[in-house]
Amino acid sequence: MSGSAKRSITITLDGTNKSSTLPVLSGSIGPEVADIRRIYADLGIFTYDPGYGATAACESKITYIDGDAGVLLYRGYPIEQLAEHSSFLEVCYLLMNGELPTPAQLREYEMGILRHTMLHEQIRQFYNGFRRDAHPMAVMCGVVGALSAFYHDSLDINNPEHRRISAFRLIAKMPTIAAWAHKYNTGQPFMYPQNRLGYAENFLYMFNAVPAEEYKVNPILARAMDLIMILHADHEQNASTSTVRLSGSTGANPFACIAAGIASLWGPAHGGANEAVLKMLADIGHVRNIPEFLSEVKDKGSHTKLMGFGHRVYKNYDPRAKIIQKACHDVLGELGIKGDPLLDLALELEKIALNDKYFVDRKLYPNVDFYSGIILKAMGFPTSMFTALFAVSRTVGWISQWAEMIEDPEQRIGRPRQIYTGPTQREYLPPGQRG
Ligand code: ACO
Repeated sequence: MSGSAKRSITITLDGTNKSSTLPVLSGSIGPEVADIRRIYADLGIFTYDPGYGATAACESKITYIDGDAGVLLYRGYPIEQLAEHSSFLEVCYLLMNGELPTPAQLREYEMGILRHTMLHEQIRQFYNGFRRDAHPMAVMCGVVGALSAFYHDSLDINNPEHRRISAFRLIAKMPTIAAWAHKYNTGQPFMYPQNRLGYAENFLYMFNAVPAEEYKVNPILARAMDLIMILHADHEQNASTSTVRLSGSTGANPFACIAAGIASLWGPAHGGANEAVLKMLADIGHVRNIPEFLSEVKDKGSHTKLMGFGHRVYKNYDPRAKIIQKACHDVLGELGIKGDPLLDLALELEKIALNDKYFVDRKLYPNVDFYSGIILKAMGFPTSMFTALFAVSRTVGWISQWAEMIEDPEQRIGRPRQIYTGPTQREYLPPGQRG
């Protein structure tokens, strides 16, 4: 642990003479962290934090979030600056290596990624095993997990070169896997990657093109896709990243770990929210139905959430939501889509919710998913592809965090404890003697 201990906390267990002195560690920024590893040995008690709201599960140098100030930094660089000036592959280099590349380093990195874009030809057969209407995320979970059966030459997690090749393979192949999931749904032929194209451009090509015609990717859409990918590239220890780390802590191979991350991302409380936002907007249907919808959200018994609002860490505007809201307007404008009813409805819903006491009191602001679905819909993606696109973008974050964990000398298998509230020990009774 490199965070230095400047202070300590001493805890005394009531009714005993037992106490524990816990070092308080400081990172480079962010709240201090009490190192509780001694607490069980000293006091015989565990700590309880369901949902990990107050638990730092690892040390990381990759991404920093200040949820109160609405700040997001990748390796120290503000997301706003990266969104404006960088490219997705440059951000991938930054996340994986810690520093921005020189032009030569970037060229070499881009070539490295682009050379891995094809899938083993036998992986095509996997698609045929799915129902024609399979959700792209179901296909992604299956196919990404299956990669470990194809790339045996990069599975030694203790070999830095293997780790690097697996990272390149994953980042490079995800757009192909996602685009093919869509092609399988529509019944169109799979399109092979074109390595003369940029990363986002290549994905749009494989997604939209058909072999019968020439296809030129719209540069406005390629830039918007690249931006969306930058915004989703990493987000600290969120549920899917923590899933990747926990899976990886057992020594599982990186393809299996990323498949676990995809499964975790799929849920509507996480990456599945972008798809859920569009469904919610369609269900609301019209601005006049907003008040009724919001009363249902506020009704404790209803389980209805305002999708795309709220975040475990951001208690202020999600900085990604601000960037994507502007991009959404720009893309709709550039594509000549005027007065999109869903965007109008989303804007009105946002305005009303931001002034509603329920949301103000709970510090619930729009998150990135509130707008990403609208922009993706305008770009021609079906809603079922939204979370798959998130998975493509987040792969670099997952694999960078996984590699950081493997290289951490303090890394151990992740193994939480519990408060057991079930029955105490009892004797087994034969069926006739029960009840
Ligand atoms: N709509 C209505 N109420 C909400 C919402 C919401 N979207 N989010 C939180 N609340 C309420 C909760 O009911 C709770 O109210 P209470 O104090 O009266 O019980 C309070 O706000 C605090 O919420 P928690 O559930 O404790 O917040 P938590 O940090 O556990 O959840 C989460 C965060 C899962 C993101 C939640 O806000 C949510 O479900 N939002 C909608 C789904 C969504 O947009 N997810 C995307 C997250 S961003 C991402 O993954 C890219």
